[in-house]
Amino acid sequence: MLAHEVEDAPKTVFFHERKGTSNKQLDKLSKKELSRIAHDLLPARQQLPIYGARDEILREVGASDNLIIVGETGSGKTTQVPQFLYDTGLYTRPTPGSSARPMIAIVQPRRVAATSIARRVASEMGVLLGEEVGYAVRFDERMHRGVTALKYLTGGMLLREALLDPLLREYSVVILDEAHERTAQSDILLGLLKRIATRRAAAPKAAPGEQQPPAGGAPPGQPEEQPSSTPLCPLKLIVMSATLDAEKFASFLGGARTLHIRGRQFPVEVFYTGTPVTDYLDAATTCVTQLHRELPPGDMLVFLTGEEEIATVTTLLQERAASFMAALSHQVDPGADGRPDEDDEDGEAGGIPEGEQDLDGADGAIPAAPRSGAQGPAPKQAPAASEEEGLIGPTTLGTTLRMAVRPIYGALPFEKQQLVFEPAPPGTRKVILATNIAETSLTISGIRYVIDTGLVKQRAFHPHTGMDSLLVSPISRDAARQRAGRAGREAPGRCYRLYTEETYQKELQEHTVPEILRCNLAAFVLQLKCMGIEDVGAFDLIDRPTEAHLAQATATLVRLGALTPQGALAEPLGRQMAAFPLDPPFAKAIIVSQHLGCTSELLSITAMLSVENVFFTPPSEDGRQRALRARAQFMAPEGDHLTLLRAFEAYAATARLDLRRPPPRALRGLTGAECLPATARTRGVAHWCREHFLNQRSLERVWAVRLQLAGYCAQLGLNPGLATTGPAATAAVSAKDQGGASLLSRDPAPILKALLSGFPTHLAHRVPNQRAQYKLTTTSEVVGLHPTSSLLATAAARQRGARKRGSSKFKDQAQLGLSSLPESVLYTEYIITTRHYLRTVSAVVPEWADEGPQGVPMPTATLADPEPAAPAAPKQEEPRGAPAAAAPRRSKSKVEVH
Ligand code: CDP
Ligand code: MG
Repeated sequence: MLAHEVEDAPKTVFFHERKGTSNKQLDKLSKKELSRIAHDLLPARQQLPIYGARDEILREVGASDNLIIVGETGSGKTTQVPQFLYDTGLYTRPTPGSSARPMIAIVQPRRVAATSIARRVASEMGVLLGEEVGYAVRFDERMHRGVTALKYLTGGMLLREALLDPLLREYSVVILDEAHERTAQSDILLGLLKRIATRRAAAPKAAPGEQQPPAGGAPPGQPEEQPSSTPLCPLKLIVMSATLDAEKFASFLGGARTLHIRGRQFPVEVFYTGTPVTDYLDAATTCVTQLHRELPPGDMLVFLTGEEEIATVTTLLQERAASFMAALSHQVDPGADGRPDEDDEDGEAGGIPEGEQDLDGADGAIPAAPRSGAQGPAPKQAPAASEEEGLIGPTTLGTTLRMAVRPIYGALPFEKQQLVFEPAPPGTRKVILATNIAETSLTISGIRYVIDTGLVKQRAFHPHTGMDSLLVSPISRDAARQRAGRAGREAPGRCYRLYTEETYQKELQEHTVPEILRCNLAAFVLQLKCMGIEDVGAFDLIDRPTEAHLAQATATLVRLGALTPQGALAEPLGRQMAAFPLDPPFAKAIIVSQHLGCTSELLSITAMLSVENVFFTPPSEDGRQRALRARAQFMAPEGDHLTLLRAFEAYAATARLDLRRPPPRALRGLTGAECLPATARTRGVAHWCREHFLNQRSLERVWAVRLQLAGYCAQLGLNPGLATTGPAATAAVSAKDQGGASLLSRDPAPILKALLSGFPTHLAHRVPNQRAQYKLTTTSEVVGLHPTSSLLATAAARQRGARKRGSSKFKDQAQLGLSSLPESVLYTEYIITTRHYLRTVSAVVPEWADEGPQGVPMPTATLADPEPAAPAAPKQEEPRGAPAAAAPRRSKSKVEVH
């Protein structure tokens, strides 16, 4: 998909003693209040295991340019190490006579971790977020040049900065955090940082604090670092990891020293199922309910693979609680119905009765016997809690506990993520349903029990299609141990694995396969080429992808016109594509849309695809039907891309967002809420979103992403306002239209052609005489359309319509269904669940692919230089017969067309 960054959930957001303080309030605190908070937090910080290693860390960093720090999750690496360095004043001393200040970068694999840890560290230091401590993640940045000294950022952001300044001169230290996760980004950064460190070591020396960071970043037109007369301080590199296996990092960095931080780890008793589980969601639900009855107080952490699963298990838990409570004719607090933007969505559920269901022997039985892996004694029995009125759920200990279900995953709105960190009220057991974000990058106190499904959703690469998809796959034994470890942070704990011991021993791999060996490398190859690294195959990496894997990425880029057939960077298209924080196909589609006059539409579609869960479906059958009906008005017969567009434009019209508004000059510092006009924050808009089963927060994020993308366009000299309907038409879409009539008149062809230019191989043709089955042009695999596709909905509606009219033409229903589905489709998502599906699919004419993609003339402006590029830039191939609709529309901006 789009994201270069793993979008996942946050760390602790607030200090618990100030429960209820919102981020907005935090941003307005006075100096005095800030210092008081920092003062209050100090004792806890000093108790962290990392404190004992402070002097040694500083000594090592001073003595050598590379250091590896290994320490259990929660030992204080991410929050404290940067502060240790900051406090010395050595690495962030402002440059004399200049406003520049060298920074310490702390690279996180997840955007939410970067933002929330930055907030935490700002609190610990008693400063406002965005001052001494800042962050930068894709589409969101909060920092103050010259003031910010500690910058938490994602790997994707640092890679982009390396495009602008190949020596990363703004930084004195780069800390690569969570390196054990081995994301492709972190592996590539490690290779790049090693290379940068060598180059900086060879450059004229300066003491830390005396270097001259480039003011505002060097223009990206430079393929390799310019010889600079400015002295540079050496780059210090610190790699931090939660797993003990750090030798690989050490040897990659030429025998770097490794410091082991002794964490607090209490024994965790491990349980397995006796027989394999077939339905792990049911098993997890059963396990939670039964353990809730039987175990002493202590919070539970359940590892699931994604948001949908978390919603399902939440519903299952509520249903079981509700049925029990109904039986008791008790007052129920039904908690979350999963509906977004309602304050009651905290998922409180009553306790689960004893004997409600027979769990023995069935699928989902609790892993009963501690078979092995027992790392210590069983937990002590907690004292029985007192009876509290209104709380349901007698446990075997005679206690009554309520259950508070708390989800945590990347796309969860920021405020809701906080709930997971707040201690459960007295008499309540917090049950946290999490994705693997909770494995190492997040510390939640109070967890005593872990339920591990043994699964994770991770990126998998299909060499044949060249596509990535998210695939539910077994975790590694390393990951299983990490998950179990979460139960033993504060006291002895238990881990219930929903798989057999045999599976653990024989089927799970010891280590997680590095992502770089199993993902699409096109974006990375393009970035390396833009940095002037020609021979990507020789680029030093801790684990190297195969030649064939790299060759495929290169072939994709050549096909898109980003590289020449010889594999060199194609100017300006390749560099322009790299300028967008998007996968190359989407960047290409946006650039091409400029010539097809539909950039506005492409920006909306791309932004919609980069945000999860815009459409909201309640779990109940009745709710599902209502949501489907509400959504029907956005359904475009041309397919899902146009449906997404309609939904967004209808929202934009309701919220009075100006799609023609010139993009912000500065891309920095804008967050979703800040760039929303007051018209988007009215009750009416919230009501409209609810009525249409659209997630308002997601849509607000789409708007923020879209604004940023528009900004990138403007920097490249592209006009983001070009639309097929013309500037006047969209303005005329009134709230009443709700994406209806006025959008129907739009010609979808240019939009789909632009998309196809980015995804020329993502075509599939319908298999004759089979309903909704399509054959991929790449692999000849036959795949179904995802049930949510608007193409299926449209076909069904036509079928119903024809039946009503008593059409004699199509007596045979099957034939009728077949006739309404398009012959050829373009897909931008290929997903694998129990079956393979094409999702986000639109009807296209295959010949459109032949009209492009190389054939579409490209603008010559570059990011750095909005003027037409110098004639030295290699000329694009002439169009092989551009269609009428593809005739380039000149924008008013300085875009030159060859
Ligand atoms: O990086 P590592 O897992 O070693 O630990 P950390 O993220 O630096 O967290 C150290 C401690 O700070 C945790 O154990 C939490 O008690 C606390 N913390 C917090 O309360 N809120 C945060 N947002 C981050 C950390
Ligand atoms: Mg950490």
